[in-house]
Amino acid sequence: MKHLIDIKDLSTEEIDGLIEVAKDIIANKEKYSKKCEGKKLATLFYEPSTRTRLSFESAMMELGGNVLGFSSANSSSAAKGESVADTVRVIGGYADIIAMRHPKEGAPLVAAMKSEVPIINAGDGGHNHPTQTLTDLLTIQCEKHRLSDLTIGVCGDLKFGRTVHSLITAMSRYTNIKFVLISPNELKIPDYIKKDVLEKNNIEYIETQDIEEYMSDLDILYMTRVQKERFFNEDDYIRLKDYYILNKEKLEKAKEDLCIMHPLPRVNEISTDVDDDKRACYFKQAKYGKYIRMALILKLLEIN
Ligand code: NCD
Repeated sequence: MKHLIDIKDLSTEEIDGLIEVAKDIIANKEKYSKKCEGKKLATLFYEPSTRTRLSFESAMMELGGNVLGFSSANSSSAAKGESVADTVRVIGGYADIIAMRHPKEGAPLVAAMKSEVPIINAGDGGHNHPTQTLTDLLTIQCEKHRLSDLTIGVCGDLKFGRTVHSLITAMSRYTNIKFVLISPNELKIPDYIKKDVLEKNNIEYIETQDIEEYMSDLDILYMTRVQKERFFNEDDYIRLKDYYILNKEKLEKAKEDLCIMHPLPRVNEISTDVDDDKRACYFKQAKYGKYIRMALILKLLEIN
């Protein structure tokens, strides 16, 4: 049985296969509408979510399956002190597959060790978010028609932003990828990503605090929110939260075919005047999330 805890759990061939299935789902929705009849997905969300949870649920429904679950730790037995390991053992008797989001890094891995059904990590603390990365890869493939030969700017909270950690890990497998890592000093990418991912794979990267400095080189600009919930100190959050605000003016030197992405939710980091720019891809990106999750559910349930 296979789980998805880290994007590294999938080979490049498997990722490319999921992207192909997702594209086929987009083109032939009807063909997939009964594939999961009689199957149930449980969404165990111990941390807030809109897109991830609802896109998982909508994905399962569009495959003809059913969904159950909870959307906050307070409304589950976690509030009574039940461990994640016990919860998944029980839910495995009610559902065929589980998507779990948890504030503690590693919680979905612990769950996978005890679970009798596949576990999907839907975000664990400031660590990983592999299904957001699959969403991002499908978006890049559909919008840029390639996953290689790209200069990718990643901007904002690179320290706590789990989507960034998974995205850099995934993109490092493709050829001729360069990163421009744009963040305030306090929110720089963790050393383990630099050493174990970027340097190990000989990926070129530059760190800067200036969002405009390399704007004209970028094929993709991936904006992120400052992760308020991971800060220990409210004053630090307030000081850093509006460090970057992308607006039309800052895009003046950007390429005509730049793809602006954001995992959402957006707070202030992209001004709404960018939303009608043809380079703004973030709302499309959220839509792609449903299709890649449909492909993933089929794969983990071994349904063709
Ligand atoms: C991201 C997350 O939860 O890490 N959101 C999402 O899943 N689309 C990004 C964020 O919350 O900033």
